[in-house]
Amino acid sequence: MSTEQNLFQAIISHCKEYGFIFPSSEIYDGLSAVYDYGQNGSELKKNIKDYWWKSMTQLHENIVGIDAAIFMHPTTWKASGHVDNFSDPMIDNKDSKKRYRVDHLIEGFAENLAKEQADELLATMDKLLAENDFAGLKSLIEEKKIACTVSGTVNWTDVRQFNLMFSTQLGSVTDEASEIYLRPETAQGIFVNFLNVQKTGRMKVPFGIAQIGKAFRNEIVARQFIFRMREFEQMEMQFFVRPGTQKEWYEKWKQTRMEWHLSLGIDPAKYRFKDHVKLAHYADAAVDIEFEFPIGFKEVEGIHSRTDFDLKQHQEFSRKKIQYFDTEINQNYVPYVIETSIGLDRMFLLVICNAYAEEQIGTEEKPDTRVVLRLPAKLAPTKLAILPLTKKDGLPELARELMDQCKPYFHCFYEEKDAIGKRYRRQDAIGTPFCVTIDHQTKEDGTVTVRHRDSMEQERIPMSEVRNLVMNAIF
Ligand code: GAP
Repeated sequence: MSTEQNLFQAIISHCKEYGFIFPSSEIYDGLSAVYDYGQNGSELKKNIKDYWWKSMTQLHENIVGIDAAIFMHPTTWKASGHVDNFSDPMIDNKDSKKRYRVDHLIEGFAENLAKEQADELLATMDKLLAENDFAGLKSLIEEKKIACTVSGTVNWTDVRQFNLMFSTQLGSVTDEASEIYLRPETAQGIFVNFLNVQKTGRMKVPFGIAQIGKAFRNEIVARQFIFRMREFEQMEMQFFVRPGTQKEWYEKWKQTRMEWHLSLGIDPAKYRFKDHVKLAHYADAAVDIEFEFPIGFKEVEGIHSRTDFDLKQHQEFSRKKIQYFDTEINQNYVPYVIETSIGLDRMFLLVICNAYAEEQIGTEEKPDTRVVLRLPAKLAPTKLAILPLTKKDGLPELARELMDQCKPYFHCFYEEKDAIGKRYRRQDAIGTPFCVTIDHQTKEDGTVTVRHRDSMEQERIPMSEVRNLVMNAIF
């Protein structure tokens, strides 16, 4: 059984062992803060994406989705403020030459303090960050004797700003090529398409544009597994509203997004809102939805009231009018924006952490343990495992028949090898909600044994009802 401290490590190992997540290019010793999703991870990730996409687009008549390119005209990032402002205060240790994001360094230190001291330290840090007081931050680090994890010394440089965008060259001839950036957020692809979507979709304010896609940030301290990556995916939605109504919509989206999280059956006590002390350059209000990971409460989603900053900036830099004519009030204006932005990989980590359980099972005489992923059925990579009891007597043929009935509707897995108990354990470990065993009785009366993942209870039902049982659980 894992203790609190090594629970996170156990989850990371589990993700690798069961084909959820591998370090990127592992045969070359991996690439820091870059990860690949394996056969089960990519299914789970896709299911999270689909769940978000459906709830945002299909269930909101006034929200449509787009898929913009990762490369964008370089002026986009000048207009959005990312060239000038998308940086974090960093500090270097002079002995180890290791660079840290100042907030991560202090937060890491605070994790080992008593709650009261930690809260006090983090409040001081938040205040200094909000005031851009870099000298104050350095003094705080020195005063608390916060040491580098490599050299163990407190020999620090001054605190400086570093831009987090990756750049590359567009074009094959170096002198003619222009520098472009890998997008650090998907949001700008939505802003630059505001008029295209509004006009072609005949959208009326208030309306939203949703997008799922890759984003890239040169995170300096990239740690904690897929919590902070250099290449990651975002699921973002920009909701365009009439100026003056943004507060009301901000509150509405705060509630709507929290309801989405809770709709997955996760304990509400594991969630909390955290208002931003230091607002981003574009926001007039911002809050994080935080989840209690095994490494503490951390941000999983941000809800930002972005004012009309982005559209106005693009209007100015492109010299194209980006406005909306509101027929209800007979006025032209640049809409205000409420953004909901959730990291897909972070949501994946949340779902796995919430689902992972190590359990004592069996009897007093014959105790046993199992690792089970109690994933919501709609997110599980495999919905149904079909397991003939033996490889003979016509049982595999019957199992294949069930497989053919079910696989057009949801992801199924077929397996004949090993004792049934072992096969159940493997399915528990990847979160398969239902296992069906085909045995000799199936040949006689057409019934099968359904074994439920969470309760481990078994029931006999007609084979013809299996498909509906699973369908009811996943929709
Ligand atoms: N468009 C607004 C925006 O990008 P953000 O707070 O920087 O806001 C939104 O990012 C979400 O993206 C975060 O709440 C987090 O879930 C995810 N995210 C940000 N940086 C990440 C990283 N380096 N690795 C994984 N997810 C990240």
